[in-house]
Amino acid sequence: MNFSKVLPGDRIIYSEKTGIRRIRVNDVEEMRRMRIIEDDPEVCKFVEDLQATEEGLRNFAKGSSESVVLGVIQGGEVQGWICLYPDESERLTRLGLAEDAVEICYAKYPGAPRGLMSSGLRQVIEMIVGETFTAYTDPDNLNSSRLLEAVGFKNAGKIKYHPGAKTLDNFWILNNSPLIC
Ligand SMILES: CC(C)(COP(=O)(O)OP(=O)(O)OC[C@H]1O[C@@H](n2cnc3c(N)ncnc32)[C@H](O)[C@@H]1OP(=O)(O)O)[C@@H](O)C(=O)NCCC(=O)NCCS
Repeated sequence: MNFSKVLPGDRIIYSEKTGIRRIRVNDVEEMRRMRIIEDDPEVCKFVEDLQATEEGLRNFAKGSSESVVLGVIQGGEVQGWICLYPDESERLTRLGLAEDAVEICYAKYPGAPRGLMSSGLRQVIEMIVGETFTAYTDPDNLNSSRLLEAVGFKNAGKIKYHPGAKTLDNFWILNNSPLIC
């Protein structure tokens, strides 16, 4: 083992106060909490493609070969979700990025204590090594920006999320290189 290669650069390992796991789509109480998250005005303000129907929400929570939703769990309950999916190649091209990237989006249960979403996100980052993560935030969404900064994302400029968008979003990136290389 080459010990000089362990934890290169400015990387930090944290111990965590939450767990992450798939959403239990057959658990009525869990899906009730997912619905409350989905209908939270703060979430509606900043998250696209929210699910109006219970079937849509169930399918979203189930994930697919193109996306995964992980619940951030504390006290046995879903305190928020983190969704991962491939970032669009058209947008990555506009950003000048040649490689694929995993885009993240997230939302927390209204009133959940602070620090749970960052804990969940850190575990996702520890688990999925070797990928580039991207995220986009509305300039007014300071909570989201702070969360991304806290877990190690860098603000790398602004971009129209959709080519026809009238406003610019902040673009965030984390090159999640291995801790042992
Ligand atoms: C975005 C959202 C998930 C953030 O939730 P949250 O409870 O504030 O997140 P957390 O407390 O877990 O993490 C925020 C981090 O920022 C840090 N932070 C908060 N305020 C800060 C400040 N003023 N300066 C520096 N860091 C700050 C916190 O300390 C925390 O990091 P830590 O856990 O290392 O201490 C939540 O506001 C939400 O669901 N918003 C609506 C949906 C949404 O906007 N989704 C994102 C779309 S891009």
